This record gives sequence, C-alpha cells and structure tokens, in this order.
Amino acid sequence: MALADFLATLDSLAQEAETAFLAVGDVVALENARVDFLGAKAGKLRQVQKGLGSVTPAEKPAAGMRFNEVKNLVESAFATAQARLSSATPESRESVDVTLPGKPRRVGHLHPITQTIRSMKEIMGRLGFTAVEGPEIEDEWHNFEALNIPLVHPARDPLENFYLGVAKDPPAEAGSPGPFLLRSQTSTVQIRVMESTLPPVRIISLGRVYRPDTADATHYPMFHQIEGLLVDRGVTMADLKSVLRMFCQSYFGGEDEVHIRFRPSFFPFTEPSVEVDMNWRDAQGNAGWMEMGGAGMVDPNVLRAVGYDPEEVTGFAFGLGVERVCMRQHGITDIRALYQNDVRFLEQF
Ligand code: PHE
Repeated sequence: MALADFLATLDSLAQEAETAFLAVGDVVALENARVDFLGAKAGKLRQVQKGLGSVTPAEKPAAGMRFNEVKNLVESAFATAQARLSSATPESRESVDVTLPGKPRRVGHLHPITQTIRSMKEIMGRLGFTAVEGPEIEDEWHNFEALNIPLVHPARDPLENFYLGVAKDPPAEAGSPGPFLLRSQTSTVQIRVMESTLPPVRIISLGRVYRPDTADATHYPMFHQIEGLLVDRGVTMADLKSVLRMFCQSYFGGEDEVHIRFRPSFFPFTEPSVEVDMNWRDAQGNAGWMEMGGAGMVDPNVLRAVGYDPEEVTGFAFGLGVERVCMRQHGITDIRALYQNDVRFLEQF
C-alpha cells in the first residue's frame, strides 16, 4: 500500500471518530462507539493498523508515527465524550446527606371554637336536638319584637347593637323589612324555627353573635352562642335542668360530677328566667362556679307571637356562651387569644 493512501485512510478515520464521539448522547452509545473504533479485535483503528504491514520499510517510520498520533486523537475523543456524559449523570451531582433531619410539614387542624361547636352538636344530637342555622344579619322582629323585647327596652339601644341602618319607629312587625342589625343573640333562631314548624320542636342553633363591647380578657365584639329550644306538651323546668346537666356532664365528662345551679334572673322571652352556672373540677384541680348563660321557660307571649297556643304547649330555652365553655375546658384566660390567629397559640389545641 502506498504511504499516501495509508495516511489518507488514517485522516478520514480520525475525522469519522471525532464526529462520532461528539455525537454520542448516552453511555450505551459511547460504549458502541468505543468498540467500533477502539475495539481490540475488530475496531476500525485495528483494521487500519493491519495496513502498516504493507507499506515499504522506508516509509514505515512516518506511517507508524502518524498512526500513533491518530490513535491518541481517537482515544482522547473517547475520553472527552466519557467525561461529558459522566458530568451530566445524577450520581455526580452534589451528594445529599440523608442523615440530616428533614423539614417537618405543618399540618393544620380545626380551630378550638370549631372543635367545641362540633362536640356540642354531637352531644345535643344524642339528646335528640337537631342543629339548625339562622342568618347573622337579622331584622328587629326576630332579634327583639317577637322575643317580647319592646321598643322601649334598653337592649334595643342603638349603642348596644350593630345596626346596619337607622332604627325605625314604630316597631317592626312580622315580615316587615329592615332596619337590619347583626344579631345580638341566637334566640332569633327560636322565632324562625317556631314560625315555620308546628310543635313539638327540639332544636339547637350554634353561631356568631355581635355586641359593641370593647375587647378585653372576657369580652369580644363577636362571640358564639349555643341556643337550645324544646317545645312540647308538658315540658317543665326540671327537663331544662336535666338536659343542661347531661350536656355539661357529657362535655366536661371525667370521673367528677358536673354540677348545675340556677339563679333567678330576667329575660323578656322567658318566664321564669334563670342564669345558669356550672361547677366542674378540671385536671389541674381548679373548681368553682362559672356563669354559662341564660335560660328559662318560653314566655307565653313568645309562643303567641309565633302562633302557638300557650295553653297547649310549654317549652324551655337556653343560650350559653361557647367561648366560655371552650376557655374553661382548655384553661384559656383571654378570649382575645382565640381570635388573634397566632399559630403558636392555636397549634396547641
Ligand atoms: N339570649 C340570651 C342572651 O343572649 C340568653 C338566653 C337564651 C336566655 C334563651 C334565656 C333563654 O343573654
């Protein structure tokens, strides 16, 4: 073979190898190209090497030198491709220390007041009371008039309520529009239920109420009440006390007995009326009477306002503060903490 032909073959092989190694995209292709060009038995370089035997002895040194140059060239093209592929493989990225502690995922949960409301609904449900809802924006008929709270009553003072318009005179009648106000008590729902159903009635209603109180440890302009109403033939004050006692015993539970105490009071929509106190020894041994809210026998005027016959049916009603119960249960001393949305506080419940 002529030297010129041998050198030309070497040159085109060098070019072919360079292009091939530049093009490989993964380790399998790289290995195929390696075998193709550098394979010890049938590689292209090996094939060309065989041609060395047929050049004249005088031309051998020049042919051998060029062969070695091309061999180095092909080998370094292979090494470059190998380095390029390995720097792109995941194993070579910065390593991860799997023994480091992870970042815990924050798991949300129900607000303590929501938890209290749910368990109150559950307990009263077992006692046969159906949970109903009423609007938070009310008219004067449902918030006052039908509840036997006349226009002259101090509870209707515009400064004691969140009116959404100007209070009007003469007093609102059933079905008359506005003025509206944010309901100041859940007793409104008693009226709405009795207006639309015939006795017997056995409901509770849990929800927000609003009063323009300055916020302090025990007051907040928005809070929650649980209202209960039972109307049927022959309902007595003893039924009221039994239901409240069973309710508190189930809620606070424990070994210790929960006690209920009535103190004479006045509400326009109940007669007689009482304040309800509860006594329960908590896990820390704290005991003492706590005021829970108001209750009484539904006033005959209220029964008449919704079209019931007070000679036929009687009923009891109660309205308790949800925050008080929740705070007493958890030992929370400031109602404002419930509504500041500080996760460090809320995540404890
Ligand atoms: N609505 C009264 C209040 O907000 C509580 C109450 C409800 C009293 C039902 C008697 C009967 O203070």
